[in-house]
Amino acid sequence: MSTYLVFGATGNVSRRVAERLAWSGAAVRATSRTPEGAKLPRSVEVITPDLDAPGALDDVDAAFLMWPFHSAEPARPIVDALKRRVRHVVFMTGGGALPGVAPKEQPNPVARWHATVERLIEQSGMEWTVLSPSTFMTNTLWWSDQIKAGDIVRGSFGSLAMTPIHEDDIAAVAVHALTEPGHEGRRYTLTGPEVLPQAEQVRLIGEAIGRPLRWQELTLEQERARLLADPDFPDGFVEELLAGYAKMAAAPLPEVTSAIPDITGAPATTLSAWAAEHAANFGGEQR
Ligand SMILES: NC(=O)c1ccc[n+]([C@@H]2O[C@H](COP(=O)([O-])OP(=O)(O)OC[C@H]3O[C@@H](n4cnc5c(N)ncnc54)[C@H](OP(=O)(O)O)[C@@H]3O)[C@@H](O)[C@H]2O)c1
Repeated sequence: MSTYLVFGATGNVSRRVAERLAWSGAAVRATSRTPEGAKLPRSVEVITPDLDAPGALDDVDAAFLMWPFHSAEPARPIVDALKRRVRHVVFMTGGGALPGVAPKEQPNPVARWHATVERLIEQSGMEWTVLSPSTFMTNTLWWSDQIKAGDIVRGSFGSLAMTPIHEDDIAAVAVHALTEPGHEGRRYTLTGPEVLPQAEQVRLIGEAIGRPLRWQELTLEQERARLLADPDFPDGFVEELLAGYAKMAAAPLPEVTSAIPDITGAPATTLSAWAAEHAANFGGEQR
């Protein structure tokens, strides 16, 4: 039986990929820098992320790769290790990497790293599938402390519209791409089912947890100060986030794609359903 490798398997999406594969009875090998704390299904073999280590890629037919690094530097050794042993890589890209645009022409550093990895994979001789997801619903957990503390979420860009996506829907697509023929050489733009401004996302989370939450708009200066004072938010990401939001706010409204229902046969999950599932994270009761 061939084995599936899942990289970064304690992450938002990779954990779901590893679980879905394991529950289907597939052989799964997953990476974590702390394998003993990974809390994955028992049948999953957990290894460290050193893909050159003896046995790391034995019997691996297809791999799910995401990019947890803050540069493209590890890309070449990782892709080189994979291409020696693995037939097919499903890569979750990010950072707004624009398809068909050279890494150095990409709009921001994060897009440049992701485009670099995409290009290396595409030139490696392996079969590949690229998943390009929209904003994760898990990003709304950035508001969880404010929601636990009161009914107001303060931030800027409240009218900024997004198509938030459930991490498990991305994982479902990844599993189809890993386990079925026909996804090779494809780049899928994955979105959630609705176009939702941030303020509306807050209202829907409130509805799901049974509290009347509302958005309060901050100026950019106030928002910068708030994020820098937040011990859980990485300081180095503040300017990038604000610049990214300003760019998204000036761009045309994002569009919902049909890739999730087309590939999985099930509708993409709504934010209301995701919020009900994650109610405990916002101080509500899990449904
Ligand atoms: N958030 C969004 O809205 C969004 C939207 C589109 C695309 N993306 C892209 O999605 C990716 C992030 O996915 P995610 O949120 O599912 O990941 P995540 O939750 O941040 O988890 C990534 C996992 O990778 C492992 N990891 C971290 N640093 C590592 C390192 N240096 N070496 C090896 N493993 C490492 C960690 O596991 P261990 O600690 O167990 O090793 C971690 O659990 C990024 O490429 C991002 O650009 C995000």
